[in-house]
Amino acid sequence: MTDKNITTPPAARKFFIKTYGCQMNVYDSTRMSDNLSSAGYVPTEKAEEADLILLNTCHIREKADEKLYSDLGRLRLLQEERAKNNAAAPIKIGVAGCVAQAEGEEILRRVPAVDLVIGPQTYHRLPQILSQVETGAKIVETDYATEDKFDHLPLPSAAAVRARGVSAFLTVQEGCDKFCTFCVVPYTRGAEISRPAAQIMREAEQLIAGGVKELTLLGQNVNGWHGLGADGREWDFSRLLFHMAKELPGLQRLRYTTSHPRDMTDSLIAAHRDLAVLMPYLHLPVQSGSDRILKAMNRRHKADDYRRLIEAVRRVRPDIALSGDFIVGFPGEEEQDFAETMRLAADIGYASAYSFKYSPRAGTPGAILNGQVTESAKTRRLQQLQDLLSTQQTAFLHSKIGTVTNILLEKRGRHQGQMIGRSPWLLPVAVQTGAEIGTVIKVKIAAAERNSLIADEADKTAKAVKFA
Ligand code: SAH
Ligand code: SF4
Ligand code: F3S
Repeated sequence: MTDKNITTPPAARKFFIKTYGCQMNVYDSTRMSDNLSSAGYVPTEKAEEADLILLNTCHIREKADEKLYSDLGRLRLLQEERAKNNAAAPIKIGVAGCVAQAEGEEILRRVPAVDLVIGPQTYHRLPQILSQVETGAKIVETDYATEDKFDHLPLPSAAAVRARGVSAFLTVQEGCDKFCTFCVVPYTRGAEISRPAAQIMREAEQLIAGGVKELTLLGQNVNGWHGLGADGREWDFSRLLFHMAKELPGLQRLRYTTSHPRDMTDSLIAAHRDLAVLMPYLHLPVQSGSDRILKAMNRRHKADDYRRLIEAVRRVRPDIALSGDFIVGFPGEEEQDFAETMRLAADIGYASAYSFKYSPRAGTPGAILNGQVTESAKTRRLQQLQDLLSTQQTAFLHSKIGTVTNILLEKRGRHQGQMIGRSPWLLPVAVQTGAEIGTVIKVKIAAAERNSLIADEADKTAKAVKFA
């Protein structure tokens, strides 16, 4: 397809994007939005006003899929109503993201109201595809593109960068080759690819020039990034972090997510010691504390490997906030296995962690294993684990009371003169201050709420806790 085929939509068609799932989808939605804007579409916050509604979907658990189909049911009615009231400006419905990739044509069969199904690797072609959709064609585009979408996506306009605020996501790695037996990601996102360092730097520089202070590097296995370095050689992820810390002087804070324990190298752990810009927060999913279950999940690490990794990270960065993911009720999980998961969680002490009931996904090896666990056992185990994790979260929040730390102001709070900032440990902090959004201020933590902290602005000379 050539650029000739792009037609500017008549009378600025409005688009609305709803995002489900992980941060990679949040990032993709901003890039799709940039792309649509540069093709002449105008964003709207209201689905009812939109001429194009895109659902950027998640396939990770069954519930995510169900949500999509119930939303599509509602949108179909909206589409019918518009057809009655304003036939000249029909609503087009698009399904993007991981369900689009996994289900393709099937979505059109189930919901004929859908006009477009587009997988994550072809978002750069959206304007061309939409010009066909606008003329009434139904399109399913789920082939993996041969060209690099990142080379073809337009860089965001200055206004689009400003809209991102002070903290922005930047995808550096996509796809997954690990094939954990419960997970759909290798099938929905395809094989692992790492963007070249130079391409990442260009995007980072543009974001920082537009006012971004904090970057979160994203990837399904972000620490598995191994790409073309700025010197033409292959770099690993820690090298990329050192390079960004050195070459992006305007960058105040750097984070990354999500990591796999297998790719948590010594040099990456050293980056947590050596890079002041790298925030003391690590999301490192373990999934289970039982070696038998970890093996069945094809995680290729043992529970004690994970414990040793955490010890090593804590040695260099004692204040690090740890996060993780757990799955309860994977096929074959017995009470003893679950007890080991509880023991592991107790040993680690998370600042915050996510836990899920195992959801069998068609096409993954886990779905056809013997020994599927009953729903009632999954519910009971999940409750037990979440009680422990919630106690740990409260303990972590309370351990910060009385400490002095830096926060990056992100937005205004609900009360007069109140601002919401981000602590180094990712927790939101509310503070009364006259300082501007985008500045880093020193605060003393005064109290803890359920998921956030409350602080008083501290004297500039107050001594910050080490590393913060
Ligand atoms: N790449 C990351 C996680 C990607 S998916 C990693 O390797 O850890 C995010 C989380 O969803 C996973 O960590 C896992 O805890 C959960 N998850 C994935 N597939 C699932 C399934 N079939 N059922 C329940 N939870 C699942
Ligand atoms: Fe899924 Fe495992 Fe890949 Fe993470 S590492 S995305 S859990 S297959
Ligand atoms: Fe969901 Fe796809 Fe992310 S399945 S978790 S949106 S990679």
